[in-house]
Amino acid sequence: KSSLEETLLSSIRTIPDYPKPGILFRDITTLLGNARAFRRAIDELVHPYAGSKIDKIAGIEARGFILGGAIAHQLSAGFVPIRKKGKLPHETVRVAYSLEYGLDEMEMHRDAVKPGEKVILVDDLIATGGTAEGAVRLLTQMGADIVAACFIVDLPDLGGRAKLEALGVDVRTLIAFEGH
Ligand code: PRP
Ligand code: MG
Repeated sequence: KSSLEETLLSSIRTIPDYPKPGILFRDITTLLGNARAFRRAIDELVHPYAGSKIDKIAGIEARGFILGGAIAHQLSAGFVPIRKKGKLPHETVRVAYSLEYGLDEMEMHRDAVKPGEKVILVDDLIATGGTAEGAVRLLTQMGADIVAACFIVDLPDLGGRAKLEALGVDVRTLIAFEGH
């Protein structure tokens, strides 16, 4: 493993049986609280896009906001929040999406992305890909040009990455945990 992977893997805390028995919860708050790990993760995520013109970073509530804000600043891009339903005050587009533990709806402002704008989608982790797929559908509906979807953590056994790639999205992740 690279030193970056070692840094990131060792800074993520694993909580057994949260939020329910049998689930290993990958807690990135310890990575966020580690100045060096946080900086290295952001640097690595933005690296391929340095020098290319990215219009917007779309971050998925809630943990995607933290990473997305830092990435937007670094790439001199705007930030667009994709939120759980009922949180955004102006006109929205809405989509239902499947979670590991049920169904929910997410939305974004109709005027947040203009057709043809280059957008990078950001979240902390991709598992089944239901959440990211919903976000991709919203962005696509608004005519966004999705340059990539970026995550710190991939849980490849849950198939999310493959699901996004099947939609034609370029997926970028920094570390993977096998099993779940
Ligand atoms: C977690 C994680 C991703 C999503 C991944 O968020 O932060 O957003 O699940 O799962 P999926 O690929 O199976 O859809 P969660 O729904 O727990 O909400 P939060 O970020 O607001 O805490
Ligand atoms: Mg989340």
